[in-house]
Amino acid sequence: PLVLTMIALASYLLGSVPFGLVITRLLGLGDLRAIGSGNIGATNVLRTGNKAAAAATLLLDAGKGAIAVLIARTIAGEDAAQLAGFAAFLGHLYPIWLGFKGGKGVATFLGTLLALAWPIGLLCCATWLVTVALTRISSASALVASASAALWCWIIGPQSLIILALALTALVWLRHASNIKRLLAGNEPRVGK
Ligand code: G3P
Repeated sequence: PLVLTMIALASYLLGSVPFGLVITRLLGLGDLRAIGSGNIGATNVLRTGNKAAAAATLLLDAGKGAIAVLIARTIAGEDAAQLAGFAAFLGHLYPIWLGFKGGKGVATFLGTLLALAWPIGLLCCATWLVTVALTRISSASALVASASAALWCWIIGPQSLIILALALTALVWLRHASNIKRLLAGNEPRVGK
């Protein structure tokens, strides 16, 4: 229990590093929370016009979920890996450094799944890419891709990941409440606009 508590805590702290904010600040791109949707994720970093910064945010926000999973797995096995992924994801959504007001979790969701079960992670990335190609809307793609995770687990396994996938998806959807409202109203901006 002590080891698991330490793993959860360390993963949460790693997950709560807001790379989008760090990168845009380092590059002097302005206050991310005053731009576009105000979110700290890669999609909103892209709205600064700096594609490299957006790509770095995507990779680092995904990477922190993946690293948490891989370290936990090495130390304490598969259940600990799931716990670490969940804790890192919660860290991104509710970071201690930002008064618990964090991001929407899409990149961290993908990175965590890639490390937990790479075929599932790849299928979710592919689902995101296909949806964004069709809709040009990042949030819609995130909603579809996250919802597909449990379905992929059910179809190709591991079944042991379904509960976590559903929990992560519920939180991704919860954090996209304002996006869902805009999608329903038909005024959610498209990528590159
Ligand atoms: O990664 C979050 C994305 O799905 C939506 O971001 O900035 O358009 O709210 P944003």
